[in-house]
Amino acid sequence: MRAVVVNSFGGPEAVEVVETEVPRPGARQVRIKVAAASLNPVDAGVRAGVFGGAGERIGLGWDVAGTVDAVGAVDAAGAAGAWSVGAEVVALHYGAVKPLGTHAEYVVVDADAVAPAPATVDAVHAATLPLNALTAAQALDRLEPAVGRSSLLVTGAAGAVGGYAVRLAARRGIAVTGLAREGDEEFVRSLGARHVTSDAVADREFDAVLDAAVLGELALAWVRDGGRYIGVIPHAEPASVRGVETGAVEVSADGARLAELVRLLDEGVLTTRVAETYALEDAAKAHARLDEGGVRGRLVLVP
Ligand SMILES: NC(=O)c1ccc[n+]([C@@H]2O[C@H](COP(=O)([O-])OP(=O)(O)OC[C@H]3O[C@@H](n4cnc5c(N)ncnc54)[C@H](OP(=O)(O)O)[C@@H]3O)[C@@H](O)[C@H]2O)c1
Repeated sequence: MRAVVVNSFGGPEAVEVVETEVPRPGARQVRIKVAAASLNPVDAGVRAGVFGGAGERIGLGWDVAGTVDAVGAVDAAGAAGAWSVGAEVVALHYGAVKPLGTHAEYVVVDADAVAPAPATVDAVHAATLPLNALTAAQALDRLEPAVGRSSLLVTGAAGAVGGYAVRLAARRGIAVTGLAREGDEEFVRSLGARHVTSDAVADREFDAVLDAAVLGELALAWVRDGGRYIGVIPHAEPASVRGVETGAVEVSADGARLAELVRLLDEGVLTTRVAETYALEDAAKAHARLDEGGVRGRLVLVP
């Protein structure tokens, strides 16, 4: 099968499409025939060596939509047995340094990372959901006890993580302000933000911030004393000041939670946004496009 890998770190030119053996599912795993796999900022980071793994062949891709085509051994809990060959699914294949990712014709994932595919969108759109909707949901879980229904600022609110966070927080009744680039305000408002701004944020205005634009100390300054800051780059959050608790979300694969998010997508609560699709062979071109910046919606690879 064909798979997208990097053998040495670098820019888009480091991205290679190689022939490799179709992976076999082990116990509690399933193999998915990939229909679509989105390209996320983390893939560019892996490609550039941000997560290490020098000297290894690293497979790219975290998000996948496709069809279960093989099921590993079923354990006593019946984990892999929950999925039958032919099931249409989505999954998060967690991990920065792994020999094969979702940017491939087939991928093996843990059975408990898998959820039924949405019924209302195609695989290209479905493939954009897992990583960023799970990250947004898990970040909000960490913030919610502190923010209750009071004010939350989401930076990067027009992006994938930020967009899902605005939508999910608004649905929980939280008063959300979205910080987004000029020109993205209307989109962010459509997600349910009560206020949208491209710059005018007063210091100490919010109970909490979810910093999906990775603004760091700038975003921390907008949180009231004793509030909360949650970032999206693990271990890179700013130090606590003024009693503001700081931390960062690190997404975890969670098929049950992903299934809830799929339901919200099918109910129209969440929406997906696709910018362009690329053939697997053109993965390097997709990386180059992502590096250019200004992409609205995800770039999706189709094997
Ligand atoms: N920790 C985890 O588990 C986890 C999981 C998923 C993602 N992440 C990380 O989360 C971050 C966001 O990911 P994403 O997929 O949501 O990225 P994205 O779709 O590119 O969204 C980022 C958004 O922030 C905007 N932005 C950047 N600087 C801004 C500023 N100063 N003011 C207003 N808006 C600004 C960007 O606009 P422009 O495009 O115009 O710059 C873009 O709309 C990435 O660093 C990603 O690696 C972490």
